[in-house]
Amino acid sequence: MSGGDVVLLLLLVTAAAVASPANADVSYDHKSLVINGQHRILMSGSIHYPRSTPEMWPDLIQKAKDGGLDVIQTYVFWNAHEPVQGQYYFGDRYDLVRFVKLVNLTGLYVHLRIGPYVCAEWNFGGFPVWLKYVPGISFRTDNGPFKAAMQTFVEKIVSLMTSEGLFEWQGGPIILAQVENEYGPMEEAMGSGAKPYVDWAAKMAVGTSTGVPWVMCKQVDAPDPVIDTCNGFYCDDFTPNQKNKPSMWTEAWSGWFTAFGGPVPHRPVEDLAFAVARFIQKGGSFVNYYMYHGGTNFDRTAGAFIATTYDYDAPIDEYGLLRQPKWGHLRDLHKAIKQAEPALVSGEPTLQNIGNHQTAYVFKSSSGACAAFLSNYNTSSSSKVVFNGRSYDLPAWSISVLPDCKTAVYNTATVTSPSAPAKMNPVGGFTWQSYSESTNLLDECAFTKDGLVEQLSTTWDKSDYLWYTTDVDIDSGEQFLMSGQWPHLTIYAAGHSLQVFVNGQSYGSVYGGYNNSNLTYSGYVEMWQGSNKISILSTSVGLPNVGTHYETWNVGVLGPVTLSGLDEGTRDLSTQKWTYQIGLRGEKLGVPSVRGSSSVEWGCAAGKLPLTWHKAYFNAPAGGDPVALDMASMGKGQAWVNGHLIGRYWSYKASGDCAGCSYAVAYNETKCLTNCGDITQRWYHVPRSWLNPSGNLLVILEEFGGDLSGVTLMTRTT
Ligand SMILES: *[C@@H]1O[C@H](CO)[C@@H](O)[C@H](O)[C@H]1NC(C)=O
Ligand SMILES: *[C@@H]1O[C@H](CO)[C@@H](O)[C@H](O)[C@H]1NC(C)=O
Ligand SMILES: *[C@@H]1O[C@H](CO)[C@@H](O)[C@H](O)[C@H]1NC(C)=O
Ligand SMILES: *[C@@H]1O[C@H](CO)[C@@H](O)[C@H](O)[C@H]1NC(C)=O
Ligand SMILES: *[C@@H]1O[C@H](CO)[C@@H](O)[C@H](O)[C@H]1NC(C)=O
Repeated sequence: MSGGDVVLLLLLVTAAAVASPANADVSYDHKSLVINGQHRILMSGSIHYPRSTPEMWPDLIQKAKDGGLDVIQTYVFWNAHEPVQGQYYFGDRYDLVRFVKLVNLTGLYVHLRIGPYVCAEWNFGGFPVWLKYVPGISFRTDNGPFKAAMQTFVEKIVSLMTSEGLFEWQGGPIILAQVENEYGPMEEAMGSGAKPYVDWAAKMAVGTSTGVPWVMCKQVDAPDPVIDTCNGFYCDDFTPNQKNKPSMWTEAWSGWFTAFGGPVPHRPVEDLAFAVARFIQKGGSFVNYYMYHGGTNFDRTAGAFIATTYDYDAPIDEYGLLRQPKWGHLRDLHKAIKQAEPALVSGEPTLQNIGNHQTAYVFKSSSGACAAFLSNYNTSSSSKVVFNGRSYDLPAWSISVLPDCKTAVYNTATVTSPSAPAKMNPVGGFTWQSYSESTNLLDECAFTKDGLVEQLSTTWDKSDYLWYTTDVDIDSGEQFLMSGQWPHLTIYAAGHSLQVFVNGQSYGSVYGGYNNSNLTYSGYVEMWQGSNKISILSTSVGLPNVGTHYETWNVGVLGPVTLSGLDEGTRDLSTQKWTYQIGLRGEKLGVPSVRGSSSVEWGCAAGKLPLTWHKAYFNAPAGGDPVALDMASMGKGQAWVNGHLIGRYWSYKASGDCAGCSYAVAYNETKCLTNCGDITQRWYHVPRSWLNPSGNLLVILEEFGGDLSGVTLMTRTT
């Protein structure tokens, strides 16, 4: 064939697939997805490409394959791909095409969740901040400007995937797509625009002609042909909204996320395996672990108050190491399910009662395959059951898999994979130099307005930081100048954290938390006769990613700001002139970068001072083990290695109840916690690929002040 013939043939193939989805290579029926004519029981795992580095991807994907997965699932992160409207970015950690091709190369499929709302504990739920300022916009409802922007992005991603030949019918790995995300539960609260929006989103998605099925998760009213799917800790009670749709579990939560100030959740693998087996035995045909590798919220990609670690207690840990026995026990489960697949895809199971809380689910195919799942739902006692004349021991809260209806090759509560706890090994400390951030604003960047401004609409999230400064005139006759009874400053803010300086002197900080970002500063401040300068540094800690119209939630000092204890009583400063600066002086000067760090004068280490930059040089630890920083001795801030922002750090104390953890009872995210009374996150991942063998630059911006001598370079081993 000539090149022209190939093109023509491709066009014909494309046209055929578009015109007649029934002939596409991926379709579905009541039982399962059908790929190239074959019904499949598919095991899938979420790996979000920006939460690791491209250098880590091949290993993560290979470990997923070795763990018995068939599919890698990922969201697509709109705010990273279109940081400025109409300007797209697909480089480095956001090289989606490279990621999908690597999955293909490893021989796995892809489930692409385009959203573009993704939640994901990701900054602004994946929406670009500019989207909020499109005139007349309202998010995730029947709103013209929103739908136009959403459609443009969805079509952009689909055409990118198509042009790279990445859909299954093109010989690529993508077998499944997703539009929207967990919209169902909020439909009522979203009012009359919700239902038309759902219908439009489904139609728009299907209209992009991907040639693969679409899902909407947690969407009981997902319009045909879009498949509604389940997310949760358990999904065996889930039934799709049409008889011709398969039962699919798009998020089997392998653990839970961590928020600064919260404890760290863990999900016992015995219970996770039990949940998956429960779903499969009831006819489920697709299970995706959310997350299989959680990774790291590098940069400022974390949602509001979400920790920098996104480990999620996943089978592959944040650093890319196998979490054992979790990974191994699930691999064994997948192997057992694969052995049973010929019988599982053949149709409905028949049920046999084999005890009070014990049931056998039996699958038989016309060609003679037989598989059985023997389950014990009793939370406290094991059970001896008889099935087909043989007897079996079932531990409490467990399922045994019999791929031939005879031999129990696997039991969800019987863990045979050896455990391999991770260890953090100190490598050494650092020699520091410091540079103090100034409360004097840069003339060329500052601007003045009457009254207080909302932070996000001012910064557009270009920086976490916004300075609010104002002058206060104190008359020579003020009583407090004589009595020394200083006036009292009160500041109400929508969050997330703020620091107060008066005449350059620090008066401490206050911050909100994951459950309520609102905060109040209240304290006595020294002032002198004449002009005094109040400087408030307001800091955001990620934008909210979930909630009804979360895009309308405010950040920053909204007021009132008052000064009491004056002769006149209380003076309201809220409406007077304020001067603003977006970002810090050090950010403007590029201090975090290798080049910019030499643009300022560094002095002796001054770790205890608030609002100070620190830098140090270090060599990469020998070997290939993952690298981390121990930041427990510091307060709050950001840290960069060779100009890469490894994320926000915050030694926020975790409150919660960490008592007790039994696998044998329905799990939720409030059980099996660690770190209560300790800080939420101590170690921060420094990807190997960001390091040179020697002379690496570490820059820290510390907001509160801490102990630099405690900052330690670590390696992680198992
Ligand atoms: C995907 O992998 C298959 C099989 O290895 C290969 O033939 C195909 O060219 C790959 N496609 C892409 C887009 O990389
Ligand atoms: C938020 O509140 C819930 C319920 O009180 C609590 O379990 C959780 O730990 C809190 N989260 C954080 C991060 O403080
Ligand atoms: C579990 O089994 C024990 C012993 O047979 C029985 O007494 C109990 O009622 C069962 N309870 C539950 C919740 O399954
Ligand atoms: C935070 O403050 C705002 C404004 O006063 C209020 O509307 C909101 O309900 C508060 N949030 C919480 C969680 O209390
Ligand atoms: C979570 O589990 C605990 C302990 O079993 C239970 O008390 C609590 O009600 C559950 N919480 C939710 C939200 O289901």
